[in-house]
Amino acid sequence: MTTKPDPVQQPPVFRLEDYRPTPYAIPAVRLAFDLHPTATRVKAELEIARRPNVAAGTPLVLDGNELKLVAVAVDGVPLGHKAYHAAPDRLEIFAPPAGPFTLEIITEINPDKNRSLMGLYRSGGVFCTQCEAEGFRRITYFYDRPDVLATYTVRLTADKTACPVLLANGNRQETGDLPEGRHFAVWHDPHPKPSYLFACVGGALEALSDRFIAADGKKVELHIYTEPGKTARALYAMDSLKRAFAWDEAKFGRLYDLDIFNIVAVSDFNMGAMENKGLNIFNDKYVLADPQTATDSDYADIERVIAHEYFHNWSGNRITCRDWFQLCLKEGLTVYRDQEFSSDERSRPVQRLIDAAFLTTTQFAEDAGPLAHPVRPRRYAAIDNFYTATVYEKGAELVRMIACLLGEQEFQAGMTLYFTRHDGQACTIEDFIQCFAESSGRNFSRFMLWYEQAGTPQVKADYAYNAGCGSFTLTLEQSLAPTAAGGEAKPMTIPVRFGLVGSDGKDMACKTADKAVQGDVLLLTQAKQIFHFTGLDSRPVPSLLRGFSAPVRLVTSLSRQERLFLAAYDSDLVNRYQMLRGLLIETLIEAGGAANKANAAGPLPAVSFEIAAAQVQMAENEALEPAFRALCLHLPSEAEIAAAQGSNVNPDAIFAARQAFLHILADTGKTRFLALRQHHNVTSAFSPNAFDAGKRAFTNILAEYIAIADNDPEIAAALYTKAGNMTEKLAGLRLLTLYFPTAAATKQALADFEQRFAHEALVMDKWFALQASAAGTDRLETIRQLTRHKLFSYDNPNRVRALIGSFVTQCQTGFHRADGASYRFLAEVILRIDKNNPQLAARLLSFMRSWTQLEQERRSKMQAALQYIAEGRALSRDVSDIVNRLLGKPGVL
Ligand code: TRP
Ligand code: ZN
Repeated sequence: MTTKPDPVQQPPVFRLEDYRPTPYAIPAVRLAFDLHPTATRVKAELEIARRPNVAAGTPLVLDGNELKLVAVAVDGVPLGHKAYHAAPDRLEIFAPPAGPFTLEIITEINPDKNRSLMGLYRSGGVFCTQCEAEGFRRITYFYDRPDVLATYTVRLTADKTACPVLLANGNRQETGDLPEGRHFAVWHDPHPKPSYLFACVGGALEALSDRFIAADGKKVELHIYTEPGKTARALYAMDSLKRAFAWDEAKFGRLYDLDIFNIVAVSDFNMGAMENKGLNIFNDKYVLADPQTATDSDYADIERVIAHEYFHNWSGNRITCRDWFQLCLKEGLTVYRDQEFSSDERSRPVQRLIDAAFLTTTQFAEDAGPLAHPVRPRRYAAIDNFYTATVYEKGAELVRMIACLLGEQEFQAGMTLYFTRHDGQACTIEDFIQCFAESSGRNFSRFMLWYEQAGTPQVKADYAYNAGCGSFTLTLEQSLAPTAAGGEAKPMTIPVRFGLVGSDGKDMACKTADKAVQGDVLLLTQAKQIFHFTGLDSRPVPSLLRGFSAPVRLVTSLSRQERLFLAAYDSDLVNRYQMLRGLLIETLIEAGGAANKANAAGPLPAVSFEIAAAQVQMAENEALEPAFRALCLHLPSEAEIAAAQGSNVNPDAIFAARQAFLHILADTGKTRFLALRQHHNVTSAFSPNAFDAGKRAFTNILAEYIAIADNDPEIAAALYTKAGNMTEKLAGLRLLTLYFPTAAATKQALADFEQRFAHEALVMDKWFALQASAAGTDRLETIRQLTRHKLFSYDNPNRVRALIGSFVTQCQTGFHRADGASYRFLAEVILRIDKNNPQLAARLLSFMRSWTQLEQERRSKMQAALQYIAEGRALSRDVSDIVNRLLGKPGVL
C-alpha cells in the first residue's frame, strides 16, 4: 500500500483504491525471543520470495515502529552499511537477491517501557503481546499488513522462575532447560497467518485445563491461564468456550484446527480480547468471574467475548482481511455470529433488544456526527480509530440483513461457500458478498451500498385502509442524508419484516400480488414503494421492522393509540418493546424541549401516565419472561434520549424530564411492584444462567422503583447488606449512589465496599464507575478526587474507562456542566494519557462525537476544549486524527 502526503493533514492518509500486493511474499517466519523486562532480543528469520512479475532487485521495504536494529543479514551474510537503511519505523534492503532468500534481523525492545499496550509489553509481570492492527512492527521489521501470510515457528527463552509458562501460537514442539536458570519452549503454527495474529506470552501463570472432543473425533486441549490462585474464576469462561466450540460445529459446521487452544487473561489491555491463532489474549474482565465478584452482566459479557474470539478462528483467521479497509469482513461477521450464539444460549428476543438498543445509542450517534464513516471506510489516517460501533455493530447488522433476505438455508449455503472457497486467503467484502449472490442467484449491487454509504437511513411509513374493498396500502420511503464524502445517497436494499395485526392482536391473513413482498419481509429497494394488500375485512395495524430487521430509523404515522395497542399485543416482542420505547423517548424529548430554557422539566404530558401504565402491565404479564419485563421497566439512558433528539440537546433538561418520569412510573407501579418482587425472588443457590439472571434483573429494578417511590435509602441499604452475590450487592450500591448520593447509608456502603474489595481490581472498577455515574454538576470534584485515590492509575485502561469513561457517558449532567469545566478536564486527561497510550486517549476523545448536537452554549465550550486538544504538543496520530475529524477539518476522510 502506498502512502501519499495529504495536502491538509500531516500524517499520511491510506486509501482503499491504492491497494497493491507487496512485491515480496514471506511464506515462513522463525522468531527467537530472549525475554527480558527491559531488553528483549528478537531474532527474526524471514523466508522471502519475490512475487511473479516483480522486477529483480526491487527494494524490500519493511514496517517498523520505535525499533532498534542490532543486526541484519541475508542468507547468513551480514549486510554492509550501503546495502540497507534502517530507521525506527522502516527497514529498506536496497537490492535483495533475485531468488528466494532468508533475511535475518535482530532487534532489541523494552517491554517495560512500552505502555501503549501494543507490541510486546508486560502486564502484572507477565510478558504478553498485542499485534492487531499494527503492533507486530514494534517487535520486528515486517510487512505488517494482513495480506502477507506466513507459517510461524517461535522459540521463547526466559528465566524459569519468572516465566515458568511460555506460550505462542499453534502447537508446542519442544521444551527444555538451559544454563543459568533459564528455559525455552518452541511453538509451531502450521496455518499461514498475517502478523496481526501473532502472539506470545511468558509469565508465572496458572492454568485451568479441560478438553473438547471435536465432531471429527479430534481431542483439543483447552487451557485458560490466569494469575496464580484465580483459576477457579475461569470456570464460566471455560464452560462458555466449550459451548462456543459445539455451537460453531452445529450452526456453521466449523471445526477447530489445532491440538490446543489457549487463553491468557491479563489486566492491562486496550480492548476486550484478541483472537491470536490458538492463543487468545483477554482483558481479564472477560474471563474472571465468580458469584461474589462478578454480576450477571459480567457473566453474559464473558460468554459473548469468549465466543466472539473463538469464532474468529474461522471468520478472521482461516479467512482474513486483504487490507484494513475490509475490517468489517471479520468483525461484522463475527459480531453477528456471537449475537446469534448468545441468542441461542439465552433469550433470542431479549438478546435482540439488547443488541438493537446498543446499536441505536452508540452506532446511530456515531453515524449522526462528525466521526461518521461507511462500514467499509475508504480512507484512514490511523486504523486503530476504526474499531468502531459502525464497523462492528452496523457491520453485524449487514450480515443479519443478508440472513433475513435469503432465509436461514440460503444464508448458510452462502456461508459454506465462503468458508470453503476462501479458506487460507485474505479477502474483501466483494468476495464475501459474491458467495451469497452465487448461492442464491440474487443481485446484491444495491445491497453493497450499505458498505459504502455512511449515515442511518430513515424509513417513513404511511398507510391507508379501504373498508369498501378490504384493501390496505402501505407506502415506504427511504432517505439518507448526503454523505460526508459528498454526493446524493442512493436507495439501498432494506428488508422490512412485517405483520398486519388485527383487533384481536393476531396477525391477519392477507393477499398480495407484489413480488417485493417475500413472506413476512417487505423488500424496499426504491426511494419510494407502495405495497398493496387485499382480503382484509377490518382495519389492520401494521407492525413494521419486526425483530429490528434493518439498522434504520423508522418513522410511522401510527397514532399513539395504535402504538400502545402494538405494545400490548404484537406477536413480535421486539416491536412491543420498541413501540413503548419510542413513545417514551418522544415524550421525554418533548417535555425536555418545553423546559429547555428553564433547565427543568415542567409537569409531564398526560401520555406519560399511559406509558407508565403500559410498562406496569408488561411487568405484570406472567406470560413474558422476567428478563424482558425488566427491560420494559428500564428507562432509556440520558445518552440514548440525547441521541434520539439529535439537535439542540440540553442534558439538564433531558435529565429533569427523565427524573420526573421515573417518579411517575415508581408511583404508578409501586403497590404492584412490591407483590411482584416477593413473587420473583430467586431462592435457589446462585447460578449465572440466563433465566435466573433475568429474575434478578427484574427483582432488582422492582426494588429500585420501590425505593424511589418511598424515597427511602434504607430499602437500598438493605438490598446492599443482605445481598448474597455481586449482582445484588451492586444493585444495592447503585441505588444508593445514584438516587441517594448524600445519604449516610451511601457513604457507609461505599466505604464498606472499598474495604472489602480493595484487592479485587475488577470489583474496584465497579466502585469507581458507580461514583462516576451519579448525577450533578459537582461530580467533577468527585472525579478529580478519585483520580488521586491510591488505587487509581492512568496506566490501566480498565480503571481509566471505569472512572473517566463512566463519567463522560453516564453522568451527563456533570460532564455537560454548562461552564464547560468537565470538557476542559477531559481534554487534560486525554493529553496526559496520549503520551503513553494513544489508543486509549483516542477512544476517550471519541466520546465527544456528538458535540455538534448540543445546544449552542455547550457546543462552543466543547469546541474550545477540542481546539485545546488540537493545539497540544506532540499529539499521537490516533488523537490528532480524531480531533481533526471532530473539528471537521476538510480533506481528512
Ligand atoms: N480483533 C479484536 C476483536 O474484536 C479487537 C482488537 C482490535 C484489539 N485491535 C485491538 C484488541 C487492539 C486489543 C488491542 O476481537
Ligand atoms: Zn473481533
